[in-house]
This record gives sequence, C-alpha cells and structure tokens, in this order.
Amino acid sequence: MKRIIVSGVLVCATTLALADAAIGKARAATACAVCHGPQGLSMQPNVPHLAGQPEIYLVEQLRNYRSGKRTHEVMGVIAKTLSDQDINHLADWYASLQLSVQER
Ligand code: HEC
Repeated sequence: MKRIIVSGVLVCATTLALADAAIGKARAATACAVCHGPQGLSMQPNVPHLAGQPEIYLVEQLRNYRSGKRTHEVMGVIAKTLSDQDINHLADWYASLQLSVQER
C-alpha cells in the first residue's frame, strides 16, 4: 500500500515537471529563442548555449542577473521581467533538452 502511494507521488511529480517544461518552452520561444536558439543552441558566438545545462545552474544565473549579482546589460534587463516561477519553468525546459557531443 505504501509503495503504491509513493509511486503515485512520483508519477505526479514527473507529470508536473513535464508541464513546467512545456510552459517554459512556450515562454522561451518568444522571449529567449532569438538569441539562445529555438532548442537552446545559440547561433551567435557571443551568446551561450542553454540546452542541457543543469536546472540548478540556470536558476542561479537568472536570479543573479535579476538581482544584479551577475551583471550583463541585456540579460539584466530580461531577467527583471521574470518571476521565480518563470525562472523555474524556463530552467526546467532548457535542462530537459539532451545533447550529444562528438569530437572533431
Ligand atoms: C538579446 C539577446 C538575448 C535574449 C533575448 C536572451 N538572452 Fe540570455 N544571454 C544573452 C547573452 C549575450 C548572454 C551572455 C551574458 C554574459 O556574458 O553574462 C546570456 C546569458 C544567459 C544565461 C547564462 C548562461 C551561462 O552559461 O551562464 C542564461 C541562463 C540566460 N541567458 C537565459 C536566458 C533566458 C531564459 C532568456 C529568455 C527569457 C534569455 N536568456 C534571453 C543574450 C540573450
């Protein structure tokens, strides 16, 4: 019985995480993709990739831009428009993307 309850909670948590990532994806498409690429892979040499970065890292960077602890003219302005929830959704989406790496 206990096991059934625990797995029920896990399923809910996974479903919620997927829902968050979907919300983040929609937001990223309009607010971030122009610079960071539609799949989080930047096409510009001065813009970092976000795809596959750990969620905890992305959340921390966005909060730091917002608070001014990390300074950047453009990202500072953008991060100020984001709530904690927006940041979590966006970080969920970028962290959910998987990369494969190849040596040249
Ligand atoms: C106008 C272009 C532009 C847009 C739009 C933009 N970014 Fe950025 N972003 C940048 C640049 C340039 C940097 C590198 C800044 C630096 O050197 O600190 C950056 C850095 C970041 C970083 C830090 C990455 C790292 O490796 O440390 C995160 C996280 C990030 N952006 C998230 C977002 C999110 C989420 C959005 C949409 C809400 C967004 N950005 C929209 C240009 C942009």
